[in-house]
Amino acid sequence: MDKILVLDFGGQYNQLIARRVRDQQVYAEIKSWQQITPEEIREEKYKGIIFTGGPNSVYDPSSPHYDPAVLDLGIPILGICYGDQLMAYMAGGTVSSAETSSEYGKTILNVAEHILFQDVPSESICWMSHTDYISEAPSGFMTIAHTAKCPCAAMADDTRKLYGVQFHPEVTHTAYGTQILRNFLFRICTCSADWKVENFAAQLIEKYKAQLQGKKVLLALSGGVDSSVAAVLLHKAVGSNLVCVFVDHGLLRKSEGDFVEKTFKEEQKMNLIRVNAEERFLNKLAGVIDPETKRKIIGEEFIRVFEEEAIKLGKINALAQGTIYPDVIESGKGDSAVIKSHHNVGGLPDVISFDEIAEPLRDLFKDEVRAVGTLLGLPKELVYRQPFPGPGLAVRIIGDITKEKLLLLQEADAIFREEIAKAQLEHTPDQYFAVLTNAHSVGVMGDARTYGYVVALRAVETDDFMTAEFSRLPYEVLEKASSRITNEVRGISRVVYDISSKPPSTVEWE
Ligand code: XMP
Repeated sequence: MDKILVLDFGGQYNQLIARRVRDQQVYAEIKSWQQITPEEIREEKYKGIIFTGGPNSVYDPSSPHYDPAVLDLGIPILGICYGDQLMAYMAGGTVSSAETSSEYGKTILNVAEHILFQDVPSESICWMSHTDYISEAPSGFMTIAHTAKCPCAAMADDTRKLYGVQFHPEVTHTAYGTQILRNFLFRICTCSADWKVENFAAQLIEKYKAQLQGKKVLLALSGGVDSSVAAVLLHKAVGSNLVCVFVDHGLLRKSEGDFVEKTFKEEQKMNLIRVNAEERFLNKLAGVIDPETKRKIIGEEFIRVFEEEAIKLGKINALAQGTIYPDVIESGKGDSAVIKSHHNVGGLPDVISFDEIAEPLRDLFKDEVRAVGTLLGLPKELVYRQPFPGPGLAVRIIGDITKEKLLLLQEADAIFREEIAKAQLEHTPDQYFAVLTNAHSVGVMGDARTYGYVVALRAVETDDFMTAEFSRLPYEVLEKASSRITNEVRGISRVVYDISSKPPSTVEWE
């Protein structure tokens, strides 16, 4: 399998570059520039290297620099933005600051005839985001593109197969960005398009079959996408030697616990232990109002319950986790010993001893994880489900948590989700749910006065959950949901729609 190294200099689009390469069915992996030496790059037999973007200026001493020996490995390199400037700097060109004429946004790009621009028109739109620019290409390089403000928008040294572009081919605003990446991958690096998620899944199953043969594997299944896909994949590899423990803390959405049990136990025929611990969690949470205390209690109790189950199982050889590629990149920079700092697995190693960690999804992006899940027969509603916080409805019941409030919220939330589904809007908001506010409000039913809870509906659209906008849901959908909730759920007298964005608000209310 041919592979491309995305050498990470800290730019904002780095994961996107790897995604775009994989979209072309070429395997790409991201490594920080601090993580790999030119010698190791040679040993790994990469077919090509992409230098990513990064901080503003190569002359800034705190900016990442790299061993120029990489330019002489004989492996084709494409530098993007900062990566382009870094290549110029390392090869002896001149990078200057364009304080007064920095380019940002869609820009007209003029390209020369060149292998990198095959099937790209001489004039097209590209995406620029830079202050510094290459004022003089290094010797051996020729300038192959320019914009009105940037005299060297792309450069090439065909002898050493070194290429640089000032613009961002990986973002969709660059009209021919995909074509340019394809030219680099297939015409310059001569990669084969042989990376397919289905082949990769099959290889993973074989790998874990060998690695975990005869071993007992334990997985904490939450019913979320990552742990679910990790579970089915490992189940194909080790069968009943995989034990999944599903701690049902009772704070799940309506019927969710039963759905998880049915999917894994009945449909997938897996070795699943469901622990019904609702009472235990509600007792611990009784009277607790502070959201962070709620989270802490749930996190700790989760571990206690999980530990108790694990101890009953006897010796465990491997602990499996649903860590995915973005987790690996963002946390441990590829260090497999790092335990995902997710509340429901952190802290486990203290009490349960195991020899190894199995993280079958650690090289896959979220959409690839979904593709594997679908391939292995998981239902759509599970594979494409919206994110759900570990502490569950506890952070959607404002104030103290009681069984009565939990039931009210589960009903209201189920109605909201049903109406979204009926309107075929499941994939429009990235997350949508109901919140039981602690406010009461007067209502009227028939001739009688009621005094019930106020429920807030929340729906947001976001790329990364760091920022989010409230969804402009059609009024008809909101009206239907509101009318059904106030009529069907006794104890709720009013429904409001949350029109706050993040920041300054957060997605969850607590
Ligand atoms: P906020 O409320 O921080 O939410 O804007 C951003 C995303 O994170 C989820 N979230 C959590 N997930 N444990 C989790 O596993 C938590 O304690 C938690 N708090 C928030 C939230 O649902 C949204 O997707």
